[in-house]
Order: sequence, then C-alpha cells, then structure tokens
Amino acid sequence: MVLVILDRHEHINTSEMQARLRAAGTQAGQFDPEQITEFVDLMQVYEGAMYEISTKLEILDSEFQVRFSHDPIHHMERRLKSVNSILDKLRRRDLPLTTRAVKDNLFDVAGIRVICNYRDDVYSVSNYLSAQSDIQVLRVKDYIKNPKQNGYRSLHVIYAVPVFLSSGAHYTPVEVQFRTIAMDYWASLEHALRYKTDLPDDRLVEHSQTLLDCARSLQNIEVQMQGIHRDINGAPQVENAPTA
Ligand code: GTP
Ligand code: MG
Repeated sequence: MVLVILDRHEHINTSEMQARLRAAGTQAGQFDPEQITEFVDLMQVYEGAMYEISTKLEILDSEFQVRFSHDPIHHMERRLKSVNSILDKLRRRDLPLTTRAVKDNLFDVAGIRVICNYRDDVYSVSNYLSAQSDIQVLRVKDYIKNPKQNGYRSLHVIYAVPVFLSSGAHYTPVEVQFRTIAMDYWASLEHALRYKTDLPDDRLVEHSQTLLDCARSLQNIEVQMQGIHRDINGAPQVENAPTA
C-alpha cells in the first residue's frame, strides 16, 4: 500500500519569496540583494533535508510492511515554514533578519509529522531513524511520557541530515513530530480551536478542563487498542524515545 504524504506548504516560488523578503527587508532596512539570494538558497537546502528524512521514513515503513506485514506509519505531513513565519519568529526573538540567524536559531524551518497507528510504532520508527549512521539527533522532547499541561502529547525529535550540494555536505535540521492517530486528532482540533483568531482568550480557557479530559480519554482508548495489538502481534522491542 502506498504511504500517503500530505504537503502542507505552498511550493517554493522564488520570485514571490524574493518579493516578500524585499518588503520585509525594506521595512527593517537590512536586506541587501545578496541576503535575498542566500535566503532563497537556504530554503532550497531545508526542502532537500525534509525530502531526505521523509524518504528514510517511507523506506522504513515499507520494510516493516514486507518483514512484519504491519504499517507503522498511517500517513505523513510535510511543511516548510513560510518566509513570513520565519521573519515573524526572528522578530519575536529579537534576532537579526539574516540567514545566519535562521541557521543558528530556528530548527523547525523544515517539519515532518509522522502519524503512526500505535504508540509502540512511534517509538520503534523514531528509534530506527535515529540509529541511522548518516543523521544526528539534536534534540528530543517526549511529550508522550510527559504530556504538556493542556493535554498535548507527541514525540518531537530534531534531526540533522546531510544535504549534498556542489560545495559539500550541509547538515540541516528537520523537526519531526511523531504521534499516533489519537494524538493527532486531539492536537489538530485543539490547534484549530486555539488559532481561531476572532475568539477571545477566555473562551478557550473555559474549555481547558474538557480538552484535558478528552486527551486522557483518547489516551485510555489508545492503550486498550495497543493492548489488543500487542496480544496478537507480540511486545515491542523499544518503549523509549531516542536520546540526543
Ligand atoms: P516553538 O517552535 O517556538 O513553538 O518552540 P519549541 O520548538 O520549543 O516548541 P515545542 O517543541 O514544544 O513545540 C513545537 C511545535 O509542537 C508547535 O509548533 C506545534 O506544532 C506543536 N505543539 C506544541 N505544543 C502544542 C499544543 O499545546 N497544542 C498543539 N496543537 N500543538 C502543539
Ligand atoms: Mg518549534
């Protein structure tokens, strides 16, 4: 079966990116034409890194299908941060609007969401990927073992993967969020509720206990489904997040 990959970003359009950068640079008075070219080149590298990691994940998924007749990955989503979001994030953190600042400080320019069938799949896929000799694990946040206060659960791993250009290997970070279908269901709806811009803050706070209850109910269901799967297919080999 073919693994479905959803691309959540607009495809890089160089002239539009240049126009947005020029507009932002004019406001801040700090972009020269050379910076704009560097920025466009950098985005191409992030895009390459994103494809490198998603190809590795596709290969792992198909190996599992062949060896164990089990699809660990339900589907994937990929996205490159838009130029405007990158510039906003730099401004929020009081960083200069330069490619150097992006490279040194932003690790989520390239992002992949890996939606797995079971929690055991989250840990096995993330560990197999982390063990590959050509990539590095830069940072791990296990919000499955330690959920956020609002109920959010996912495993976040930042990988550095080499992208080979004419100038050599460029190790480039990619943020991968591994989660189950149940975690994704909760996170997607919570995100949509939170980012409804015309909503006053207290309207969501009012519902925070219900959101937390929903997260816990989903977790319970997931544990039971996992139990059935383990009973039929055997226990997993890894139950912990990879380490940086
Ligand atoms: P930022 O990327 O600047 O937000 O900081 P960070 O990298 O330290 O954050 P973290 O790794 O904790 O989370 C980054 C991403 O995880 C966000 O961009 C979201 O995609 C997702 N995320 C984190 N917390 C939540 C949450 O409470 N709800 C939802 N729906 N998504 C979340
Ligand atoms: Mg982030």
